[in-house]
Amino acid sequence: MKYTFPITRTPESGISKVDFDNLPFGKIYSDHMFVADYQDGQWTNLEIRPIAPIPTHPGNMAWHYGQAIFEGMKASRDMEGNALLFRPEMHAKRFNASARRMCMPEVPEELFLQAIHTLIDMEKEWIPQQVGSAMYIRPFMYATDETIGVKASDTYRFIIFVMPVGPYYNKPVRLLAQDQYVRAVVGGVGEAKTAGNYAASLLPATMARKEGFDQVMWLDGIHKKYIQEVGTMNIFFVSGNEVLTPNLDGAILAGITRDSVITLLKGEGYTVTERPITIHEIVEMHQQGKLTEVFGTGTAAVIAPVEAIQYKDDLIQLDMSQRKISQWVYDTINGIRSRQVEDKYSWLVTA
Ligand code: COI
Repeated sequence: MKYTFPITRTPESGISKVDFDNLPFGKIYSDHMFVADYQDGQWTNLEIRPIAPIPTHPGNMAWHYGQAIFEGMKASRDMEGNALLFRPEMHAKRFNASARRMCMPEVPEELFLQAIHTLIDMEKEWIPQQVGSAMYIRPFMYATDETIGVKASDTYRFIIFVMPVGPYYNKPVRLLAQDQYVRAVVGGVGEAKTAGNYAASLLPATMARKEGFDQVMWLDGIHKKYIQEVGTMNIFFVSGNEVLTPNLDGAILAGITRDSVITLLKGEGYTVTERPITIHEIVEMHQQGKLTEVFGTGTAAVIAPVEAIQYKDDLIQLDMSQRKISQWVYDTINGIRSRQVEDKYSWLVTA
């Protein structure tokens, strides 16, 4: 272990108040968090302490100019109760890719991983073992300079907290293909996991919800026809034995679950094609009876089956009884996470 830092434990754990059989997503926090500050070009003040609000100056640059990035990753337990992390190095690398795009300092991979390992080791009793539940890990970084004026902050804070979570979606999702608002264009920040991307999705997602949909499916910002991703996850389409997903063109988040799904499916002999996909060809595929399944992938969403997609006057209604591939990938990923399915690609790291 390269880094040493103080640990202050909470006098009273909140774990006894948690109903692990009925976990919501994103509402329950464990007892502790990791905190570090970036000052004078280096990471300092590293510590783990009881989770609590952090006072912030009203002039904090993150509020005004949006330098804020995050990751979402998961820990699970095997049948013996050992804590496991899913592809943590890949999350560390993506975090730093987001940092570079948002003109923020990188967190050394070793620091990122050591902080997570130490925190998970302290909080492992909080990792749910119920099927569909997991420990969600949220590393994030934000600017901390108290300066008004558009420039990159000189100081930052890096925090990691963890939460026991149930499923993000409890039922198949209904999507509205959005052509009025756009999420990202090539050259923008769509590839970065930055707070503003999610803020931009809120108005269209709220409008979609009013019309009975769960989320927006984004189309590209220029032609308004190429499918990008859903507000909360990447997207896959199945036609027979071929699985299609939009290629990473620089405007789409490089999902780690997306990458895992592609690897698993290719390993199983499926043809997986990453390419530009228009909404029109998906509508046509459906009209010809060739679209058998649609599903989303994400750390939070895991594998979320899609029940319907509305695009202008066309409603793509999927026959949920045809679900085969999405169920297989869901079972396989969950099986790997609990070591009940072989971890062929060595994605698990003992925490
Ligand atoms: C994740 O999948 O980890 C995300 O950050 C997406 C968000 C919907 C929770």
